Amino acid sequence: MALNFHSKIYVAGHRGLVGAAVERALRERGYQNLVLRTHAELDLTDQAAVRAFFERERPEGVILAAARVGGIHANNTRPALFIRDNLLIQDNVIDAAYRSGVAKLVFLGSSCIYPKFAPQPIHEDSLLTGALEPTNEWYAVAKIAGIKMCQAYRREFGFNAISLMPTNLYGPGDNFDLQNSHVLPALIRRFHEAKLRGDSQITVWGTGTPRREFLHVHDLADAIVHLLETYDAEPIVNVGWGEDVTIRELATLVAEVAGYRGEVGFDASKPDGTPRKLLDTTRLRALGWQPRIPLREGIEGTYAWFRQHVADARL
Ligand SMILES: NC(=O)c1ccc[n+]([C@@H]2O[C@H](COP(=O)([O-])OP(=O)(O)OC[C@H]3O[C@@H](n4cnc5c(N)ncnc54)[C@H](OP(=O)(O)O)[C@@H]3O)[C@@H](O)[C@H]2O)c1
Repeated sequence: MALNFHSKIYVAGHRGLVGAAVERALRERGYQNLVLRTHAELDLTDQAAVRAFFERERPEGVILAAARVGGIHANNTRPALFIRDNLLIQDNVIDAAYRSGVAKLVFLGSSCIYPKFAPQPIHEDSLLTGALEPTNEWYAVAKIAGIKMCQAYRREFGFNAISLMPTNLYGPGDNFDLQNSHVLPALIRRFHEAKLRGDSQITVWGTGTPRREFLHVHDLADAIVHLLETYDAEPIVNVGWGEDVTIRELATLVAEVAGYRGEVGFDASKPDGTPRKLLDTTRLRALGWQPRIPLREGIEGTYAWFRQHVADARL
């Protein structure tokens, strides 16, 4: 059954960075019948509640953008929470979606679940070919199980679930909490606050040499809608910008956008994480999609959003 603009689509995690962007992208594209539940309204780790929700609402499409997500610190200090919540959320949603007759489900993996030393740029075939980055292996093992679950349900039951592998994301609605956030929102907040205080020096974790790729979340949401409509197969699909920058280059860019004029130092005693992470996006481009929002433009928009929402952003 093909989806159309009247099909009921459930966006799980619509208050999150990705989910909010997906809701926006679906509405802009013309989908009029979205089903949304906050975490407080539906705890996706609760199997009985999830099954009852799917039986009642019977959505036709599902975008699974709810997950327990965080940076190196959060992953390192809460390993049990990361593996438990992610396994439960995806197991409950994928299984209930299949049982209730969902026509299409989109699951999200992540570039950080590829092996730590995967050849660069990372091709989809690198998954499960080597040891994981130890700082986030709990999250990675759960996410890999989610991908395998989608593939297994497709093989055994013909369930149309696809898995996408987004690179590092950023954009409006990001998590700016310094303990739990990813590198880009953390830098935005730190440079903004350093500028307000008039600090002459700021120290960034790590050596500054790791290379990272960043994709604006509106680009990801656009790719999700494109693949929801056009891609129905087992292989995972990388979703990235296609080029990377060093953390030092990123810090310089954020400092420029935020108007911070002091010095930027690096604390090499803090962990760097994976040395390089750039996705090979050949498969995605062959499926007829490419990103549009360059990094500087994306950071400018995100910084503007952060300044407008300093009071209610996740700090
Ligand atoms: N952000 C990235 O750079 C990135 C990169 C690659 C892949 N991804 C993938 O994209 C997906 C979404 O990530 P995100 O960055 O949008 O994360 P996010 O901003 O933290 O959003 C996650 C959402 O899931 C909700 N949620 C968490 N636990 C839940 C539960 N038990 N029941 C119901 N809702 C729950 C959260 O609600 P509360 O906040 O109320 O708990 C939040 O709204 C994840 O699968 C992640 O792996 C993200």
